[in-house]
Amino acid sequence: LLQHITVQADAEPGSVEQSRLLSRCAPSLYDLRNLLQFLLEEGRHLWALVHILIEHFGPDGVVEAQALLERQCGNAEQPRLLEAFNFKIDEWLSYFLWCFLADRDGKYQLSAVRRSAFDPLARTCEFMLMEEPFHLSIGTHGLERIIRRTMQLMQLHDTEDIFPFGGIPCYVIQKYLNFWAPKVFDLFGSDESQRSRELFSLGLRGPPPDARVLSFTDMHDKLIAIDRRRGDRVVQASVPLPEALNAGMRKAFCAEVNIVIARWNRLLVSNDIAFRFSLPHERFNRQIGPWSGLHFAPDGCVVSAAEFMERHHQWLPTDTDRMRLQGLMQQVLRPSAYAGWIAPPSLGINGKSPTDFEYVLL
Ligand SMILES: [Fe+2]
Ligand SMILES: [Fe+2]
Repeated sequence: LLQHITVQADAEPGSVEQSRLLSRCAPSLYDLRNLLQFLLEEGRHLWALVHILIEHFGPDGVVEAQALLERQCGNAEQPRLLEAFNFKIDEWLSYFLWCFLADRDGKYQLSAVRRSAFDPLARTCEFMLMEEPFHLSIGTHGLERIIRRTMQLMQLHDTEDIFPFGGIPCYVIQKYLNFWAPKVFDLFGSDESQRSRELFSLGLRGPPPDARVLSFTDMHDKLIAIDRRRGDRVVQASVPLPEALNAGMRKAFCAEVNIVIARWNRLLVSNDIAFRFSLPHERFNRQIGPWSGLHFAPDGCVVSAAEFMERHHQWLPTDTDRMRLQGLMQQVLRPSAYAGWIAPPSLGINGKSPTDFEYVLL
């Protein structure tokens, strides 16, 4: 349990460190305001979890709490515990994808301990869960606003490559989705994790959301399809849900993300744009699980190492994509103004106008 809480706590300052310089290229005061709330709340989550470590785990908890201050996002000697928290986020497309995906993972992790038999953790997660929806909405709405602006520029200039016109092309958004999704899939841990099984059997951690209505016996009867590694091949297996809780949780997560992606695709359809977004397959570009070290295309089909090398620039952001995206990231601090690559939100915060209110007093 100490290890579980430490890993969760380590993610909180990790996401602050990743995004702390984003204000330098905030696309508007509205977005800057949301970023500041995000940073404040993630910092507070760290505080809450450190309190649990120090209050309830004696000297071991104090040691772990101290180590949280020493590790740092991307630090070569003392990196953050989870790999996804060691990537710097220096542009807003990645930030929105991060909130959209990683904070959603956070929601799943928190709701799994919401009914934990360790009451201090359960109660702490309850308040954090109240803050997560806002982080998720920063991501979901931010991405939708980018897509709206992208569609507008595509129609205006009758081209897919809208970088020269100050917009982010659909294929670039897709490449960044391909980049971040596997990192967040990895956050769910290994499918058949021993630790998850133990925490579950001790009542310290609950099942995935779609299994919460099931009795303990029914849950053992519910089978889940997973991949297993056999040498350099991946074979499919079917196991009782409590044996592969992380896989169950990740599958529920993917289903939820796909609902939002289907909404983006409906927007594209209604604007007569042929492009379609898709969540990469759980096998693509993974570092954890039976897929790590093997090569797959974003649709989950096996490819050779040579083919992956040859085609990865079609699937993942290239240096040129990064440079062109970075070129769009200019700070906009005039009240009511928005950077050209993103549409203004349809609603403001707390009933205020999205375009006629000074969200941050500088
Ligand atoms: Fe958090
Ligand atoms: Fe969050």
